Amino acid sequence: MDILNPTAVIGTNAWGGSLYGKAIRGSYVEDDIILDAMRVAKEEDIPLYDLARDYGLGKAQKMIGEFGTEDIFLSAKYTPFTHYKPGCVRKSLEKDLKDFKREYVDIYWLHLPTDVEEHLKEIIELYKEGKIRHIGVSNFTLEECKLSKRILDAAGIPLYGVQNHYSIICRDWEKNGLLAWCKENGILFWAWAVLEEGMLVDPRIKKKSPMKLTYRRKLKKLRKLYKIMIKVAERHEIKVPQVAISFCATKGVIPMCGCRKPYQVTDLAEAVKVRLTPGEMKRLEEVADEANVNIMGADIFRAFVRKKK
Ligand SMILES: NC(=O)c1ccc[n+]([C@@H]2O[C@H](COP(=O)([O-])OP(=O)(O)OC[C@H]3O[C@@H](n4cnc5c(N)ncnc54)[C@H](OP(=O)(O)O)[C@@H]3O)[C@@H](O)[C@H]2O)c1
Repeated sequence: MDILNPTAVIGTNAWGGSLYGKAIRGSYVEDDIILDAMRVAKEEDIPLYDLARDYGLGKAQKMIGEFGTEDIFLSAKYTPFTHYKPGCVRKSLEKDLKDFKREYVDIYWLHLPTDVEEHLKEIIELYKEGKIRHIGVSNFTLEECKLSKRILDAAGIPLYGVQNHYSIICRDWEKNGLLAWCKENGILFWAWAVLEEGMLVDPRIKKKSPMKLTYRRKLKKLRKLYKIMIKVAERHEIKVPQVAISFCATKGVIPMCGCRKPYQVTDLAEAVKVRLTPGEMKRLEEVADEANVNIMGADIFRAFVRKKK
């Protein structure tokens, strides 16, 4: 796998302990099954994992460190919930590396646009020390991405990517020009919640999960979209959730999916090879826009951004 041109990313937010699995995700998945999923990811050549300190209620990072991080790629983040304090990023990254039992991370993201200049300067120091191979930003607006690029350009370091919310029903970053800007500047766009936490899967397969309670009311509004997704899936001989993934791949966006089972990794790897037709893309977009589901998409994390002092 080429880290500068990955086809898909495995999200680890759904990994975790038994209580977290049952209470939040609806079921607990044993470590052995996750390890099998990781084996499949290697076979499918998508051994790239997205992590953050709070994923799986703080367990995901420790789990991957225990599983072994040789021959895989790691993406980790600094989440600035408070204003910048000198050394804060270094301290956090050191803890991450301890969890990972590794000397470096492949990609390191500034998770929120708080004190962008100060945080990025410290991230740049860590990059120069070899602890970070590539730098990205997450949940940033176009203006904030441009600022980040200027700061990194001045240090002679490319902005690797932007990691924001994007799916068939959440295309704000495309509509407001961020996606096009990334493409023009050779910056990767990683899409999180491509399956909308299980909202964009097959509605005919009934599954109970506490997560579902958060979006149950919205499912009715998506009926027409599901019909189109089922038709597109049949035409390409793929599954319904794979349509949501192929939609991103067709857009040139890198889909991240929360995978904890081997079949989910296989679905992801297969779906990124499928390209939907312009007619299918247009129909999916039209019906998604008609549904107008409010998913607190593009700006879900803005509430955590601290205003400049
Ligand atoms: N940068 C950020 O601020 C940010 C924010 C949120 C997420 N993320 C990243 O994005 C990743 C993806 O988000 P997510 O995990 O929250 O949600 P997601 O990928 O949209 O949805 C995960 C859900 O989809 C289901 N699923 C996965 N593959 C499937 C398949 N092939 N068929 C049917 N169902 C499937 C899982 O089912 P099971 O429950 O059965 O496993 C799980 O319930 C995260 O893990 C994280 O790495 C980043």
